[in-house]
Amino acid sequence: MRRPIIAGNWKMNLLRSEARDLVESLIRRVKTPASADIILAPPFTALGAVEELIAGTGFFLAGQNHHFEPKGAYTGEVSPAMLKDAGCQYVILGHSERRTYFFEDDAQINKKIKAALLCGLNVIFCVGETLEQREKGETQSIIQSQIEKGLQGLTGNDIGRIVLAYEPVWAIGTGKTATPDQAQEVHFFIRGLLREIFGEIVAQNTRIQYGGSVTPESSGSLLTQKDIDGALVGSASLNTDSFCAIISSAH
Ligand code: PGA
Repeated sequence: MRRPIIAGNWKMNLLRSEARDLVESLIRRVKTPASADIILAPPFTALGAVEELIAGTGFFLAGQNHHFEPKGAYTGEVSPAMLKDAGCQYVILGHSERRTYFFEDDAQINKKIKAALLCGLNVIFCVGETLEQREKGETQSIIQSQIEKGLQGLTGNDIGRIVLAYEPVWAIGTGKTATPDQAQEVHFFIRGLLREIFGEIVAQNTRIQYGGSVTPESSGSLLTQKDIDGALVGSASLNTDSFCAIISSAH
């Protein structure tokens, strides 16, 4: 049985006081033990504030990115060890906003994943096609290439610390969620790829989240799909009511 995993990716939102308010109300509202792993990914500046509040709650903390080098003269960057030191158990890598706005390619993402694992971080590794690629019938080849390049050189053991996130780029922040069937089709494909590369056990044990405009209205039908094991939630994770409703739809 794969345990559901719901992650809130706050992106570049919330000052520390706002982050505290959100987390305090989440802690009051989410029944523990929750039926899913709950991950919060605040911006770097709020990691400390969130870490203090979630101590002992069972919530996990994630960074939204890190550099692949362990340290050095990289102004503006943070290392995997710094995230670990700030209390993170997870990091989100390969997000389409990093690929698009910060020109991260598969080779760089592969280095980042290796650096995260080396440091003991778990990884939420995002893949997804653009609308143009979907319309050209390239969804599967794009996902395959992102997964093969992103996970290159990793072993089945390494994959035990990786959560896949399928996030169609056309669904992120657009209000257009993939239908449960569209999402399930790609998740099934991803699990098949994991089976081919890493074998049956890894394929069965790896959690694959869906992300892209997930709301309380869409989460229930997405999360009941056979190969959808959770959600990576952007804007709806900034609101206690909607994030709690999404969490409670994960059983
Ligand atoms: P969204 O973001 O829920 O606001 O579409 C999801 C994501 O980018 O992870």
